Amino acid sequence: MDPEKAALLNDHKKSLDWMMHSWVATPLVVSRARYTEDILLKVVHHGLDQYVILGAGIDTFPFRGSNILKKLKIFEIDHPATQAFKCNRLAELGWKLPPQLNFIPLDFTKDSLEIVLKNSSYVTQDLSFFSWLGVTYYLSRDVVFDTMQNITNIAPPGSSIIFDYFDTDAYVPEKASERVLKQIEFLSSQNEPLKTGFEPSKLGVELENIGLHLCENLSPSDIQKRYFQGRTDGLHAWEHAHIAWAVVN
Ligand SMILES: C[S@@+](CC[C@H](N)C(=O)[O-])C[C@H]1O[C@@H](n2cnc3c(N)ncnc32)[C@H](O)[C@@H]1O
Repeated sequence: MDPEKAALLNDHKKSLDWMMHSWVATPLVVSRARYTEDILLKVVHHGLDQYVILGAGIDTFPFRGSNILKKLKIFEIDHPATQAFKCNRLAELGWKLPPQLNFIPLDFTKDSLEIVLKNSSYVTQDLSFFSWLGVTYYLSRDVVFDTMQNITNIAPPGSSIIFDYFDTDAYVPEKASERVLKQIEFLSSQNEPLKTGFEPSKLGVELENIGLHLCENLSPSDIQKRYFQGRTDGLHAWEHAHIAWAVVN
């Protein structure tokens, strides 16, 4: 995030620790990743075959994780520009790509997830797990629900999707927390505007309409209790950010 400052610390552990505590998005990013991998570990014991990471960014899941997770066929699906950056960076670092990892470029606003997966080695009959972390914010409601509908079309019943989202209050300046307001303003100034939120109490019905059953819908206070309670380093769950786990009916 700040290579000059990190270089001054000249110790990998210290600079990582500094970065984790000074980057405003840390609690949001680590809690959604932790929740997803906790659930993934739970469901993998019931015969999971494929893990599709939508909007993977620089997630390093395929390079870590326990042996049981390394048996999964993994698809990283991301915007062509982000994915090209990541693949170049991996090559620069000389990281060996695991054989079960597949990269697929896609723009959610232009391409069909269903078509690109059907044209890949993804198997529509195999039980699958989708994560979609840090992405719904950037898309329209229609694109979000269309993409989820694509998932219900190509994943068998019992397949999971986990995604995070802002509630609609995040976009109302009088209701939003200061941290969320600042982040929305900052990303807008970077030409990466956040635009979409959902009403947590209505999400269950909206998902049911497209063939998904909402199993868990964590609120900021649920996330705080589960992952941040008792910490003394000032990290705490993001206001307005929720994490949902839904299963294909
Ligand atoms: C904030 S990053 C999240 C990365 C990672 N999943 C995480 O949890 O930290 C947002 C991701 O969404 C992807 N994204 C945003 N808009 C997209 C679009 N229209 N099509 C495909 N990917 C998109 C970006 O390429 C990026 O990887």
